[in-house]
Amino acid sequence: MKILVTGGLGYIGSHTVVELINNNHQVIIVDNLINSNLEVLNKINKITANNPIFYEIDVTNEEKLEPVFREQKIDGVIHFAGLKAVGESVLKPLDYYYNNVLSTIVLARICVKYKVNKFVFSSSATVYGDQPSPLREDMELMKTTNPYGETKAISERILTDTNYANKDFAVSLLRYFNPIGAHGSGLIGENPKGIPNNLMPYITKVASGVLEKLKIYGNDYDTVDGTGVRDYIHVVDLAKGHVKAIENLHSGVNIYNLGTGRGTSVLELVNTFIKINNINVPYEIVERRQGDIATCYADPSKAEKELGWTATMGIEDMVRDAWRFERNNI
Ligand code: NAD
Ligand code: WQD
Repeated sequence: MKILVTGGLGYIGSHTVVELINNNHQVIIVDNLINSNLEVLNKINKITANNPIFYEIDVTNEEKLEPVFREQKIDGVIHFAGLKAVGESVLKPLDYYYNNVLSTIVLARICVKYKVNKFVFSSSATVYGDQPSPLREDMELMKTTNPYGETKAISERILTDTNYANKDFAVSLLRYFNPIGAHGSGLIGENPKGIPNNLMPYITKVASGVLEKLKIYGNDYDTVDGTGVRDYIHVVDLAKGHVKAIENLHSGVNIYNLGTGRGTSVLELVNTFIKINNINVPYEIVERRQGDIATCYADPSKAEKELGWTATMGIEDMVRDAWRFERNNI
């Protein structure tokens, strides 16, 4: 298939582009480089010996995006483009609603117009809110706790309504749990600008000496050791889930959890990182972070049953690959 990938130079997008090429798909990337850079395109080329077509375009710009669909005969889209920092979304809600919701509307409008009937969307486990894990796709969604999460819930709704009105427009809503790790080549991975918000990039910055100490947000949760429990998933496993999702997308609105089904606490992740990479990560326990929940992990059985997809890599692979990428990029 010829697949247009928005946000294809970002963290998850770049890994997915690699897996699409590995599976003989033709890839067109659209990215405005707001949270990525062109160097990633060279890295994709190094890994795959393939040069995907690249357009530097903002997906919210319908006038600029539409000609891409006139120029290329596109079979399907995977929509990663979006802003993703939860804390920033609280401070800049309009930027988040504008970028994340409008990009979904613009892309879906053009897809309907050009009869591009396969649409895969990057959603998030955050749409479940605080409900008991394991989380299943048929659970009712709870009120989201921040504007970022709301942009995902709204985009899911927009795409569902678009399918209702255009039955040929097939949608896959992929709810990611906590993607971490990096490509085995060490060439692409997560490289956030500024001080990271998420746990894994914070750990690698402490291990490399860029940051002094990890702050663990609370050890009084009702979990195995009191620290927060999440379903960490290797980004390459996640990328492979997208290949399966678009290859198996035939009709309707299909919702899938992409997670491992296993919960890991903050302390377990930090200690595995220390052990596998043989490097120290100084940490201290501090207050809980506002808005955090104790436990969040997936029931991934629907994706396994319907897509034939299951995560294959464990925490040890994730910490090893994250650290290899960090060392290559210090
Ligand atoms: P990322 O920031 O690394 O990648 C997003 C890419 O989209 C970047 O390259 C950025 O430049 C681009 N972009 C943003 N707005 C754009 C626009 N208007 N037009 C064109 N390009 C634009 O983030 P990521 O971690 O790879 O996340 C990809 C998607 O997955 C996002 O939609 C994110 O919300 C979602 N998601 C991420 C996580 C996570 O933990 N990383 C979890 C759940 C869902
Ligand atoms: C994981 C655990 C923290 C940082 C967020 C978004 C979610 C999704 C994934 C996009 C928690 C603890 C963290 C630190 C810590 N993104 N922690 N010290 O909060 O599960 O999910 O990213 O869709 O929507 O909300 O991920 O990596 O921030 O935190 O102790 O410096 O690590 O309290 O228990 P989270 P995270």
